[in-house]
Amino acid sequence: MQGCYLAASVLFILGLRGLTKPDQAQRGMQMAAIGMLLAIVGTLWHQDILTYQWIIAGLIIGSIIGYPLGKFVPMTAMPQRIAFSHMFGALAATLVGVAEFWHSYHENIPIGGAKMAALGFEVLFGSLTVTGSFMAFGKLQEFITGRPVTFKGQNFVNLVLFAAAIGCFGYLIYDSTNMTVFFTMIAIAFVIGITMVLPIGGADMPVVVSLLNSYAGLAAAATGFAIGNNVLIICGALDGASGFILSIIMSKAMNRSFANVLFGAFGSGGGAVSAKSSAGLTVRSISPEDAAVQLGYASKVIVVPGYGMAVAQSQHAVRELAELIEKKGGEVKYAIHPVAGRMPGHMNVLLAEANVPYDRMYDMDEINAEFASADVALVIGANDVVNPAAKNDPGSPIFGMPILNVSDAKHIIVMKRGMSAGFAGIENELFYDEKTSMLFGDAKASLTKLVGEVKTLE
Ligand code: TAP
Repeated sequence: MQGCYLAASVLFILGLRGLTKPDQAQRGMQMAAIGMLLAIVGTLWHQDILTYQWIIAGLIIGSIIGYPLGKFVPMTAMPQRIAFSHMFGALAATLVGVAEFWHSYHENIPIGGAKMAALGFEVLFGSLTVTGSFMAFGKLQEFITGRPVTFKGQNFVNLVLFAAAIGCFGYLIYDSTNMTVFFTMIAIAFVIGITMVLPIGGADMPVVVSLLNSYAGLAAAATGFAIGNNVLIICGALDGASGFILSIIMSKAMNRSFANVLFGAFGSGGGAVSAKSSAGLTVRSISPEDAAVQLGYASKVIVVPGYGMAVAQSQHAVRELAELIEKKGGEVKYAIHPVAGRMPGHMNVLLAEANVPYDRMYDMDEINAEFASADVALVIGANDVVNPAAKNDPGSPIFGMPILNVSDAKHIIVMKRGMSAGFAGIENELFYDEKTSMLFGDAKASLTKLVGEVKTLE
């Protein structure tokens, strides 16, 4: 059993390492999946298992839920799918803690202080992650309002709830036989999960999901300590640390602090907070025919994908267009902003799915200096990540966020459906730049037209 756990842990670490590079990500995921299989096999060997019938039932139910989740959920719904699976992970950790406590209580087995601390931590973080993840799922799926729900004295209520939960936790370490306090702590933690996520805007949910992921990981690690399971300690710690680091990276790339994400109402998903007015400014609209001429004869094109590319599912059409430009002698590169889209690596995954070669995808720092030598910057459904206000408008909510230097290119073509704001809900001066032409319409429909037009060029 321990051999299986050791191999599983090594595979989890190698899997995580693989995820740092797009061309190794798929292999990384496969290694992690094999690691998980080994961890399950190792656990099934456990001598304390008396009967397998519930385990088999769980395996069947889990597969029935898991297969369609992995197979049929579209990429645009991935953040809520992840929130949904975190909910199950946290529920599992909580139930293990409850079962352990229940067993000790009924068998009159004393729980030592250290074990109770691990158990308490596990159910506390596990339970608040269950309801917190469900709220995040609901906000992303939009059956719960995406707007921040705030009320007077909210922080005070949260503080009182948190203090009450910590109080129960402390009491249980002192007296681990009190079932009422144990379940009161769980009930309070469930409420904390809800009240914690309620005031956060729907669009900030990816950061919240990543943070909850780290809580679920910590709960799993605590479970490992409580029941003496090494693989749970290792993979829980990996999950906890990587989720936390990812949340920091995401906040940093948005130039926001954790506190701002968790307590600020930015990204409420509605109500634009226009930093600068566009009154008096005009945009230049371009036809697919004219855009095709610019692209077909360009010697260097930098494609900037954003959330709209994901919504339109236009990554295949993008690759087709790029191949046509390359056939005509042009060079095409892809500029990937760290928070383009709605989850880390969103653009890389979509472009990789459309077989865009990895060596054409460049991180922001690698490509930013190249915009000045690009004939055309082709912005596909990106908005905030190319908004110059981040550089030159100290009053803007995104001021200070690093952006792609699209405005340095000789020509800019922006593809989007209309003049709607992006995630941050603010105006984008780039659209009014004299070098910018707007190609309005759904990105996939526009790209399909563009491909047709470029094909007709001599
Ligand atoms: P956004 O600023 O959200 O802009 C996306 C644009 O796509 C919109 O302005 C929209 O304009 C357009 N669009 C939507 N559907 C489209 C379609 N079918 N065809 C063409 N265009 C379409 O996207 P971004 O530039 O990728 O920036 C990402 C934002 O999300 C950043 O503010 C970032 O901080 C935030 N965020 C990212 C993450 C991660 S980890 N990626 C996590 C949380 C938050 P129209 O409606 O006019 O078409």
